[in-house]
Amino acid sequence: MLVYAVILVVSARAVPVAGDGGLLVHAPAGTIRGVPAADGDYVKFLGIPYARVNASNPFGAPIPQEKFGKVFDAFNESAICPQIKEEYFVLSNKTIDDYDGDLDCLRLNIFVPKSKTRNKATYIFIFGGNFVNGHSDTNIYGPKNLVRHDIIMVTFNYRSGPYGFMCMDIPEIPGNQGLRDQYAAIEWVRDNIGAFGGDPQKLTIGGHSSGSMLVDMHLLTARPRQFQQAILQSGTATNPSFLHRSDPTTLVSIARQLGFKTNDTYSALSFLAEASPKSVIEATEKYVWGPCVEKKFDGVAPFITEDPELSDGRNLDGLKILGGFTDRENMYSLYWNGSVFNVPNGVRNFLIEKIYIQNESDLLDIVHRFYVDDDADNEIIKFEMVDMISDINYIYPIQRQMTKYSKHINTSVYLYMFTYDGYLNRMKYLYNIKEAGATHSDELGYMFATKFLSDLRYSKEQRMIDRVTTLWTNFIKYGNPTPVRSELLPVSWPPLTADTMPCLQIGANLTLVSRPFRRRMAFWELFFDAHLDKILAGRAQE
Ligand SMILES: *[C@@H]1O[C@H](CO)[C@@H](O)[C@H](O)[C@H]1NC(C)=O
Ligand SMILES: *[C@@H]1O[C@H](CO)[C@@H](O)[C@H](O)[C@H]1NC(C)=O
Ligand SMILES: *[C@@H]1O[C@H](CO)[C@@H](O)[C@H](O)[C@H]1NC(C)=O
Ligand SMILES: *[C@@H]1O[C@H](CO)[C@@H](O)[C@H](O)[C@H]1NC(C)=O
Ligand SMILES: *[C@@H]1O[C@H](CO)[C@@H](O)[C@H](O)[C@H]1NC(C)=O
Ligand SMILES: *[C@@H]1O[C@H](CO)[C@@H](O)[C@H](O)[C@H]1NC(C)=O
Ligand SMILES: *[C@@H]1O[C@H](CO)[C@@H](O)[C@H](O)[C@H]1NC(C)=O
Ligand SMILES: *[C@@H]1O[C@H](CO)[C@@H](O)[C@H](O)[C@H]1NC(C)=O
Repeated sequence: MLVYAVILVVSARAVPVAGDGGLLVHAPAGTIRGVPAADGDYVKFLGIPYARVNASNPFGAPIPQEKFGKVFDAFNESAICPQIKEEYFVLSNKTIDDYDGDLDCLRLNIFVPKSKTRNKATYIFIFGGNFVNGHSDTNIYGPKNLVRHDIIMVTFNYRSGPYGFMCMDIPEIPGNQGLRDQYAAIEWVRDNIGAFGGDPQKLTIGGHSSGSMLVDMHLLTARPRQFQQAILQSGTATNPSFLHRSDPTTLVSIARQLGFKTNDTYSALSFLAEASPKSVIEATEKYVWGPCVEKKFDGVAPFITEDPELSDGRNLDGLKILGGFTDRENMYSLYWNGSVFNVPNGVRNFLIEKIYIQNESDLLDIVHRFYVDDDADNEIIKFEMVDMISDINYIYPIQRQMTKYSKHINTSVYLYMFTYDGYLNRMKYLYNIKEAGATHSDELGYMFATKFLSDLRYSKEQRMIDRVTTLWTNFIKYGNPTPVRSELLPVSWPPLTADTMPCLQIGANLTLVSRPFRRRMAFWELFFDAHLDKILAGRAQE
């Protein structure tokens, strides 16, 4: 399992200012009061409940939030969903994993520029966290660099772990509850953003890593689409770590761990609905959670009904998509103790698990041999190995998916490769990585204001922040990341066509390249063409 490092410093609490007139918004959900931001010319609305967790079945679908009876003071973003929260403390260089959160957590934040522009475009960002943790904290996902381009930004919490991704094959817990939370949040934005100055017909959803995989699932689900554009950063629903198997014994086994001996699913559910989220999260710390293919039940609108690889993507027509990857996605794995590189047989087991060619030695050997020589020295080949793991985890899945999407009616698909190596490469900073290139999540430092990266680092990278945030917000506003050439963006970034795969390389310069890593990608294309049935069969048993 790959770890998506979630990091923050200390949680700051917003304090309402006195006499905050002009910050009241009368929305269909009720009247909401915000606070002016301290770090830019915008207003923050924090911790607005968009749905509720069902107390009788906290592992099931979210239920609607009633209209606020009195003014809702949106001053507090502290609520997070139950999880083992990974906190990185800059001052001591320590990561501390502690339980945090409660079930009153389905809340969203809205950041609105103070400009008078009507019908603003809105970006709804879905954080990553490997389906087990994460939260929409402004210490990690600070919006100031994006909202200064006159877009509205929305972040929100959704359930992960047992409460978000338990798959029981029963109508009460069909699986994918976290996706249902997200759907409810997007619906809330569609219905209410007009009151905040947003255009409900100009919604872009986006995410990173597992957040991006979930965004991709919103593209593929048969449920009606509620947005016009999508941003996929290093993650698709066809990624090898996306789909998980349902397990109808889950509730009973958690209940047993907590001392309630039963063989009956529904008794276990009643017991666990009363149990503290802390005890449930701690008991299931070693469990693996994620989206699953749901069984069909009368009266339950499903989210995932088949392997995303097989989805015809009916909702994709007319969609605009921006997506891509970094050039050395898995470089961080060299530095992470628990990674495939640092456990016995790690790489071999990774291949067995992730390519789903159930331990067919000859095929695995061919894959290995494509990247490295038989007697290669480990130290010398480490970057070939990084390429192999990165291609399987991220680079081939997103190129494959983007190519498919570009063939849908009226889509525009913009592909990027982030190679920039500077002061704000997030993961490189955290793992103290000195080698060239950009690793997983490095680009986020140039989009979001992140507390653990110092002001000094930010001040050295203003031009790169301007470039990246202008590209992204151009896309969010106009559906085109480079509508005009400028000194800042001296390129024209075209979408994919039937025969060409242009790609913007975002490095020290902005350079248009074609088919990044084309030989490696051609290898995987042939591999998938030859073995797709086996790959899908292997995934179904995962
Ligand atoms: C909450 O869950 C219970 C138990 O599954 C169910 O009977 C009830 O209908 C749910 N409430 C709502 C509002 O859906
Ligand atoms: C903010 O919310 C957190 C948790 O949801 C709560 O513990 C805290 O008291 C709240 N702070 C204020 C100022 O209301
Ligand atoms: C934190 O780690 C960095 C890089 O490894 C090191 O330069 C720095 O001195 C460390 N700081 C503390 C307080 O240990
Ligand atoms: C649960 O099932 C097992 C075997 O299937 C049985 O031995 C045990 O007595 C049952 N426990 C309860 C509480 O019913
Ligand atoms: C594709 O775009 C054309 C021109 O804007 C439009 O007439 C047509 O309805 C669109 N088709 C779909 C399926 O979106
Ligand atoms: C890495 O893992 C090994 C074996 O599990 C352990 O002994 C070692 O302390 C770990 N190192 C770090 C830096 O966590
Ligand atoms: C794969 O097969 C080899 C040889 O047949 C065997 O030794 C190994 O345990 C298998 N690995 C897994 C993960 O099944
Ligand atoms: C970037 O472009 C500038 C001017 O166009 C050029 O001088 C420089 O060498 C380029 N840098 C890289 C890394 O390609």
